[in-house]
Amino acid sequence: MALVGCGGFIGSHLLSAILERTQWRVFGVDLDSYRIQEHLSNDRFEFVCADLSEPSVVKRIAQYPVVVNLAAICTPSRYMAEAATVIRSNYDHPARLADACAKSGSWLIHFSTSEIYGKTSAESGLLDEDSTEITLGPVPASRWSYATAKLLTERYLFALENLCWTVVRPFNFVGPYMDFMPGVDGEGIPRVLANFSTALVRGETMKLVNGGLAKRSFTSVHDAVDFMFCLFRNGDQGIGQAFNIGNPDNELTIAELAGKMRSIYAGIKGVGVETVPQPVAVSGEEYYGKGYEDSLRRMPSVAKAERLLGFKAATPLEVVLKESLSWFVDHYQIAAE
Ligand code: UGA
Repeated sequence: MALVGCGGFIGSHLLSAILERTQWRVFGVDLDSYRIQEHLSNDRFEFVCADLSEPSVVKRIAQYPVVVNLAAICTPSRYMAEAATVIRSNYDHPARLADACAKSGSWLIHFSTSEIYGKTSAESGLLDEDSTEITLGPVPASRWSYATAKLLTERYLFALENLCWTVVRPFNFVGPYMDFMPGVDGEGIPRVLANFSTALVRGETMKLVNGGLAKRSFTSVHDAVDFMFCLFRNGDQGIGQAFNIGNPDNELTIAELAGKMRSIYAGIKGVGVETVPQPVAVSGEEYYGKGYEDSLRRMPSVAKAERLLGFKAATPLEVVLKESLSWFVDHYQIAAE
């Protein structure tokens, strides 16, 4: 099989699981390989440092019967300042890959995003793959450049004749190796888990954008990997379908997330919670720049994955937060000192 984005957060977990649990050969493509160093010498893994802008690489990928595409620019802080690059990465590249897979007959499993549901309100109910209406913000609000590109890609896959496809919509996957620590192995603002973890490790304040009232349903990356194995086993049920992958039992506000991470961090360090700085509120535009808007609630309906594939995410929030934060502290402690 081919795994595009094998060096990223989700890709690296999926690659490890495939190499451990199966005897499959994997052709991996990514611009980055620091998370997958341990696999580079594995005989069943071939790695190419490239992205989908290279037609020869796209052609090679499409020779494999199963192609998983995880490559994307998916950090909200980049959606405003680099909208054109974000659109190329999230529409042009996957559309070219889809064309190649349609021609070769490969099964394309494309990772989309929960963000395609757009500018959801605080009152939004469960988001359903096939019936929820979608509203994106106005064009000058560049926050929606990513969602627009991802949605267009989904529509393109849906419309393309002869393509065998499955779409996966992740709902805030979290776990070890998520994003980066600013100034150490990346620049800018990572997603909320890595950003809060960075603040905690550095003894700085966590920033609650617009008061931290937005809600998210966080999902363990290990559940996401288990979903992929259910999909591999039940391909017939998954082809031609989009699936939300999320955990509605793990929903909370971002302010509540900050509170939980603060006490988990105090527990890890063995200190009183009052010694860990309190979060502070900031405005979205002040923090991310002009054009930032937000989805206020993102709660997935997960009935379809359960019905067709027998999959249900099971990891409770406390467990995944403890695992992620402990990993972050160990991995970055020296860099932070
Ligand atoms: C992002 C991406 O846009 C989606 O592609 C992706 O599917 C999704 O993450 C995901 O991880 O699944 P979002 O949930 O808005 O979407 O990403 P975060 O940057 O993690 O923000 C979550 C919430 O926390 C937002 O309300 C944001 O304003 C807030 N936030 C973020 C803070 O309050 N403080 C921070 O330091 C960072």
